[in-house]
Amino acid sequence: MSNAPRHDIYAFIHKGLRAFMAHTLVRVGRLDAHDPAEVAEVGAELKALLAICRGHLEHENHVIHSAMQARAPGSATALGIEHEGHIVAIDQLAQLLEQVPGNAEAAKTLYRTLSHFVAENFEHMQREETEHNAVLWATHTDDEIRALEHRIVSSLKPEQSALSMRWMLPHMTPAERAAMLGGMRRTAPAEVFDTVLSQVRPLLGGRDWRKLSVALDLGL
Ligand SMILES: [Fe+2]
Repeated sequence: MSNAPRHDIYAFIHKGLRAFMAHTLVRVGRLDAHDPAEVAEVGAELKALLAICRGHLEHENHVIHSAMQARAPGSATALGIEHEGHIVAIDQLAQLLEQVPGNAEAAKTLYRTLSHFVAENFEHMQREETEHNAVLWATHTDDEIRALEHRIVSSLKPEQSALSMRWMLPHMTPAERAAMLGGMRRTAPAEVFDTVLSQVRPLLGGRDWRKLSVALDLGL
C-alpha cells in the first residue's frame, strides 16, 4: 500500500474558515456599538462570514454528504444534523447583529453567541477532517474526491470564490500557497491569476511574499 497522503477535500477551505471565524470573533469582541462606521464595517464582515458558512455547509450537504451516503449509508448523518443546527445559529446571529447599533449589551450578547458558534464549528470541522475523511478515503479514490471538490469550486459565484481565496491563501503554508497559485496559473486565465495575486500580496507578510515570489518565479 502506498503511504502517499490522501487528498483532503476539507484542508484549505477549513483553514480559511477558521481564520475568518477567528478574525471576526475578535473584531466583534472589541466592537464599539456606539461607533456607526465601525458597526457597519464589522457588521459587513460578520454578514460575509455567515454567508460563506451557509454556502459551505450547503455544498458539503449536496456534494460531499450525498457522495458519502451513496457508498456508506448513514456515514454523513450525524454531522449533517449538526449542519441543521448551524443554520439555526446563523439566522440567530444575523438577528442579533441587527440589534447592535448603539447597544453595547447587544454587542456583548452577539460576541458570546458568536464565540459559541465558532467553538462548535471548530469541533465540527475537526470531526469532518477525521471521521468524514476516513469514510471518503475508504469509499472514493483521490480522483473521485478531486471531482467532488471541482463540482463545488466550479459552482461558486465569482464573489464567493474571491472571498474564499481571500481567507484561504494568506492562512496556508508557503508550500500550499505556492502549489495552489501555481495550479491556478496553469489553468485559469492570466487576468484571474493576476487579480488573485494582487489581492493576496497586501495580506502576506514580506517573508511569505518573498517565498511565494521565489516559488512561482514571479520576479517581483
Ligand atoms: Fe460541515
